[in-house]
Amino acid sequence: MGGKGEVIVALDTDSSDEALSLVERLMPDIVMYKVGMQLFYSCGPAVIHNIAALGARVFLDLKLHDIPATVGRAIATLVMRGVDILDVHAAGGSDMMKEALAGVSAASRASGVQPPRVIAVTVLTSIDRDTYTREIAPGCDIGDAVVRMARIARECGLAGVVTSAFEVAGIRKACGEDFVTVVPGVRPAWAADAYDQRRYMTPRQAVLAGADYLVVGRPITRAESPRNAALAVLDEVKEARHDAGHGC
Ligand code: C5P
Repeated sequence: MGGKGEVIVALDTDSSDEALSLVERLMPDIVMYKVGMQLFYSCGPAVIHNIAALGARVFLDLKLHDIPATVGRAIATLVMRGVDILDVHAAGGSDMMKEALAGVSAASRASGVQPPRVIAVTVLTSIDRDTYTREIAPGCDIGDAVVRMARIARECGLAGVVTSAFEVAGIRKACGEDFVTVVPGVRPAWAADAYDQRRYMTPRQAVLAGADYLVVGRPITRAESPRNAALAVLDEVKEARHDAGHGC
């Protein structure tokens, strides 16, 4: 099988200059970037406009999780040019996910901006199987929980989920081929450090598992040469896609 494996680089820094310089160095090979809490909270929406001005697209990863009305109103303020994907926590429940979608649709209609895709975070890739069963959902299997969350997100009309590569096959089976899987916790074999990720795969393994998007942060952004590291990841993805019968 294998997914398309488009690489998204996570710009986890609190410096707008650093983020933009990374984008400049990695464009046009990498065209999609993840702006998370650290960069957004320190630099605000201007950083999205500046990234988009370089021709890149943004996954704005703020992982919203609150009561439905609050999430619906908050996510509406995030609909802006350049943002291609927004996310909420599936753990917020179906009412919250529906309200998030409604907020995005209303804001897009009002502003004339193309509606971003809304996806749901299932279980963080920094949480391992034992921690999940011991601390978060006693007695529950992490794999079953992720697939159940994905199914509910799909029923609510969301476009996809953030998931570890381990659950992609089960999600495909339950939610179909057009339901998007965004996979963080990607560690090339040459990466010196897994940092805090617990459930990770190499880029090749993630593509063969069927991931649509691979989110890679520190193995690229903290490399001596981020550009060379990004090109190495892209080569690995290309080879895996070829081996999976996707062509280039
Ligand atoms: O540096 P690293 O490759 O670990 O970065 C992964 C990125 O993906 C981080 O920005 C993290 O917030 C994000 N993420 C994750 N696990 C999830 C959802 C998002 O690691 N389930």
